[in-house]
Amino acid sequence: MSALGGSTVVGVVGAGAMGSGIAQVALSRGHEVVLADALPGATDRARAALEKGLRRDAEKGRMTSGDADAALGRLRLVAPDEGVAPFASCGLVIEAIVERLDVKQATFRTIEEVVGDDCVLASNTSSLSIASLGAACRRPERVLGVHFFNPAPVLPLVEIVAGVRTDPAVVASARALVDGWGKATVLAADTPGFIVNRVARPFYGEALRMLEEGVADVATIDWAMKTVGGFRMGPFELMDFIGHDVNYLVTESVWTAMYFDPRYRPSLTQKRLLEAGWLGRKAGRGFYDYATGATAPEPHRDETLGTVIFRRTLAMLVNEAADALHLRVASAADLELAMTKGVNYPKGLLAWGNEIGLGKLLEHLEALQFETGEDRYRPSPLLRRMVRNDDRFAV
Ligand SMILES: NC(=O)c1ccc[n+]([C@@H]2O[C@H](COP(=O)([O-])OP(=O)(O)OC[C@H]3O[C@@H](n4cnc5c(N)ncnc54)[C@H](O)[C@@H]3O)[C@@H](O)[C@H]2O)c1
Repeated sequence: MSALGGSTVVGVVGAGAMGSGIAQVALSRGHEVVLADALPGATDRARAALEKGLRRDAEKGRMTSGDADAALGRLRLVAPDEGVAPFASCGLVIEAIVERLDVKQATFRTIEEVVGDDCVLASNTSSLSIASLGAACRRPERVLGVHFFNPAPVLPLVEIVAGVRTDPAVVASARALVDGWGKATVLAADTPGFIVNRVARPFYGEALRMLEEGVADVATIDWAMKTVGGFRMGPFELMDFIGHDVNYLVTESVWTAMYFDPRYRPSLTQKRLLEAGWLGRKAGRGFYDYATGATAPEPHRDETLGTVIFRRTLAMLVNEAADALHLRVASAADLELAMTKGVNYPKGLLAWGNEIGLGKLLEHLEALQFETGEDRYRPSPLLRRMVRNDDRFAV
């Protein structure tokens, strides 16, 4: 276990889904963890959840039950009326509170009043800029993004994000620490959606678009992406699983932050589902009906149609990955790692593009752009250049 800021105590602010998962990760790697939440009872619920997680790890032989007890013994819960004083001893504080810039900025400002000068301040934000969080702090050089995926104890990927004013030494030490926790870290530029939430957008967006155009129905598109594409879940199943409130809002936030680039434009079909309260699995109804006894719709198992569907989505996904590389959002290696470890894609998108043929993908995008007249399908300049030079992605 390496130390940050001279102390190995990790603070976690926000004890919801992400904060309790992050606390569990740090506890199981030997840290003392200080966990706080503004809502009465939230830290107790988090303790129960992470105790369950640690006990399960012990049952599965990932740690001994003595280790699980010791991990729980290192957890210090902070009641809402205690303030931030218990964070004074932390070398690293990770914030996983509500996704609102003003609230996160105020939290960092308050924490900064009690921690030492070399304590690192990390945000688990999915959509806010690290630059704007750092700007609220007295020492913006110690502020960075450490973006876990849900559930944090299970999913290995963590995106590490430096803001304009973040000290590279802070980035390096935070990355080394999280690597030491057994996570797969990638470096992402401080741009909307970082890597995964940007590059994955067409997986949902193109499926919704094909549904709207009547190319195929929900069950057939899901079947095609799983059977022909090899994805673990189809896009509609996955949107239902994530929840349309969350999934739609991520798309809308990336689209807005990208100055309304049509490539990220949200779908009205999904918005209507959200407005109707059909939020997906958790509501019992989304694209699919989850009521007991409901019959699942049958896909049209047509290999030719399935290939059309898969190739169109893949062309858009590879284009998005190529553009992220072109705009230096991440390195080629980190782009591949992010999509395979963060969202379980069967292959890295750049390698997949090489395999199918970049020329074929470019032709496909150009045909879509020509037919629709939409900028949404514009090929990345990098993809064009690579095809012109008969090149392949170096992955
Ligand atoms: N849920 C995901 O899939 C996911 C994945 C990656 C990142 N994130 C990000 O992680 C953060 C937390 O998300 P979540 O899903 O855990 O949310 P959540 O609603 O489950 O938990 C947030 C917790 O923060 C507490 N809180 C709110 N304001 C607070 C404050 N001022 N001080 C202390 N506690 C406060 C709430 O009481 C709540 O318990 C957000 O920034 C979100 O964008 C979420």
